[in-house]
Amino acid sequence: MPTPRTLALVGMALGAVAAAALAVLILLEVVDPLAAVILGGLPYALAALALVVVSLRRVDGKALRIDTRVKKQEATLVRVETLLRKMDERLSSVAAVAKDRTGRSEDLQAVLSSLGEDRVNATLGLREIDGRVDALRRELDRLAELPDRLDAVRDDLSGQIRQTYRQLEAYVDLRSLISPRAPLPELRGWAASPDALRCLIEDVCARRPKLVVECGSGSSSVWLGYVMEHFGGGRVVCLEHDERYLELSRSLVAAHGLTHVVEIRHAPLRTWEEGGESWQWYDREALRDLDEIGLLHVDGPPAATGPQARYPAVPLLLPHCSADVRIFLDDASRDDERAVVARWRREHSLELTRREAEKGLAILTIANP
Ligand SMILES: C[S@@+](CC[C@H](N)C(=O)[O-])C[C@H]1O[C@@H](n2cnc3c(N)ncnc32)[C@H](O)[C@@H]1O
Repeated sequence: MPTPRTLALVGMALGAVAAAALAVLILLEVVDPLAAVILGGLPYALAALALVVVSLRRVDGKALRIDTRVKKQEATLVRVETLLRKMDERLSSVAAVAKDRTGRSEDLQAVLSSLGEDRVNATLGLREIDGRVDALRRELDRLAELPDRLDAVRDDLSGQIRQTYRQLEAYVDLRSLISPRAPLPELRGWAASPDALRCLIEDVCARRPKLVVECGSGSSSVWLGYVMEHFGGGRVVCLEHDERYLELSRSLVAAHGLTHVVEIRHAPLRTWEEGGESWQWYDREALRDLDEIGLLHVDGPPAATGPQARYPAVPLLLPHCSADVRIFLDDASRDDERAVVARWRREHSLELTRREAEKGLAILTIANP
């Protein structure tokens, strides 16, 4: 179909041709001018009408096409809306799933953190159990040692029972020799044990020494006093450095009515030096009048006064002893006293006899007097 523009151009061209023809016809007076104008205007009117019709038809076509497109777009919109709705639905179902998952994840988080706490508690519990197991193991080890320890305790107890019996036996024996005038002082512990005392008293009974000297006063001074009194004519001199025990021993001797036999002599400790060595030992002034000692009981000074505390007894008292003296060293099973005995024997011609006694007893005599 021709476009309105083509139609207009064609119409204008035809009009121009008609107008020229009419003008010629008017000039030739072939045609009346009014009829010519009407005849000339008619094609224009027809062309304009055709133009309007064509234009209307084109507008209709365009409107139709636009309508079709609009319909298509509406359909597309409907599809898009449908799609959007579906997407909305999916989104909300995804959101629901996500929410559900978030919920589950929170639940899982809670479960995980409670599991974490449980794990910490379980670790602590395990550590505590480990500690208890270790303690039990140690306890079991101790229990495993128990039979050995019980054996040792049993051996120790039987040793103590044997020892107690030995001491009781010696004590009963000693008691049969004397008739005490006052309660007797204790033996054992800090004092001489009955078995050692019995050896001393046996010697007094057998040899009847005139002078007994004791280094360190106490219970033994009383026992020796009774036995010496029994045989008559002898005396006991006990050297005592400690003023407290000096008084105690003196009152003990007095209580037993033995002052005529036993002298508790104060002999404070003084430094005695020999060969570059020094000791704390009884004041030598206290030895001055001691002669012909027949029995020497070395039971002091205490070990706390220095190493080999009793060593000076032999070098300082041997010149005051009789040729048949017997030197009794108490506590002879101690290392210090063993060393003292060995040294005495190296430096002096002494013979040694060891007697079984609770604290050890060494008896020394002058060899070939
Ligand atoms: C080894 S103890 C022995 C005393 C004494 N020869 C005896 O066997 O009984 C030596 C020292 O103990 C001290 N002593 C004396 N009487 C004591 C007592 N009742 N308690 C504790 N020590 C005492 C004295 O200083 C003494 O020189």
